Amino acid sequence: MSLILIVLVGSGIAISTIGVFAFKWWSERHRYRCLENLPSPQGRHWFFGHGRQILASVKEKKYFKLLFDWAKELGPIYVYWISNTPIIILSDPKLMENTLIDGVKQGAWVRTPSGQKAWNDAVGPILLGQNGTEWQWRRKAWNPEFTSSALSNHLDLVKQSCLQVIETIKQIPQTKTVKADPLFVELTMRVISGLLFGVPVDKNDSSPTNLPLLEIDRTYEAMSVITYRYLRIATGEKMWLKYLPIRASQEYWQARRYLEQFLAPRIDLALQIRDNSDRDWSEVSSLFKESMLVRIATKNTKYNRASLISESIQLLIAGTDTTAHSLSFALAELSLNRHIYEKAQNIVDRTWEKYNGINADSLRELNYISAIFKGVQSKTVAGMPMCLHIGIPTPAILDGIVW
Ligand code: HEM
Repeated sequence: MSLILIVLVGSGIAISTIGVFAFKWWSERHRYRCLENLPSPQGRHWFFGHGRQILASVKEKKYFKLLFDWAKELGPIYVYWISNTPIIILSDPKLMENTLIDGVKQGAWVRTPSGQKAWNDAVGPILLGQNGTEWQWRRKAWNPEFTSSALSNHLDLVKQSCLQVIETIKQIPQTKTVKADPLFVELTMRVISGLLFGVPVDKNDSSPTNLPLLEIDRTYEAMSVITYRYLRIATGEKMWLKYLPIRASQEYWQARRYLEQFLAPRIDLALQIRDNSDRDWSEVSSLFKESMLVRIATKNTKYNRASLISESIQLLIAGTDTTAHSLSFALAELSLNRHIYEKAQNIVDRTWEKYNGINADSLRELNYISAIFKGVQSKTVAGMPMCLHIGIPTPAILDGIVW
């Protein structure tokens, strides 16, 4: 008798648990019904959605290739599903920019908790992992640094970095094929490190005094370890795995330590300059004193050592691959379109001669080059995954990835 009772009670509990899950599942599915009208990749599983395809692509390091292939097939806006959660992919640069700037600013879009957690766990809380006021104060601090007038003060640094890459190309024997992408990675990393952290372009110059030199290959390797872990966390890997003695976590800590060791001495110096502004800092190079790091640290006392380290690693990661690979794609397109290449070359040569190099005025005359770059981006940008949450408390949730 008591056995029958146990079976009956057990079945009752099991049925009601299943009922609760089924109801939750059904109401989520119902909630996003309107998104069913957007184009969506084939092969959606009734329970996993496209989850298994996404996980497989992350494992094979082909996630963005998959997004890109789907965008070619489905257009600039489509949706894929992780179980019942819709992930909207935008691959139109203007649409992406407007959504990020207006959508996040007005609070209509916010980032998903999973994407946020993954970004913030890369090192510490960063711009890319924030919403609302936490996002706004960071964004407000960085915005003035990235205006065209602020950036045009640093064109010399861009010129020096380009000249150094040209020197490298000249040293490669003519019989050897020049691999463009590593050159663009080096160029981009030197420009970003110069602008952000005051790292001199000259490979052997360690000023201001005894700061670690920028080692392109090791830095790039460390960045890719952090980025790949971000992708795995965003698609379901548990964050605590980093505390287990497994190879992936050892690589993660090694990469993180390496980047921190490169950045921390610069951040310490920037904070010393901020806290002792009356001291004579003439022994420190003007490149460093005018770097974004010193300006941000000085202007914004909300930033401390730890948050400047994580924000700096984010900027290095967010800026390098995006810019370098965009340049590689642009070069590939130009090599396939000879007449556009020749026209671009004529315009650049003419402008260079007229202004004796690059400056703010010469850039204004290079609309043709901007148009080429924009065209290439429209063709090649893999997409910005975002996730819509319709309903309260916010009408939409955005989960973006930079490259
Ligand atoms: C062609 C080059 C670039 C492309 C295609 C690109 C693309 C993007 C995209 C699509 C986003 C939105 C991602 C999201 O919201 O999750 C983004 C955000 C961001 N990018 Fe870039 N990016 C480029 C260059 C750079 C550079 C050079 C830097 C800095 C050195 C940078 C730093 C950032 C940061 C900090 C964010 C987060 C902005 C925010 O949350 O307000 N990016 N980028």
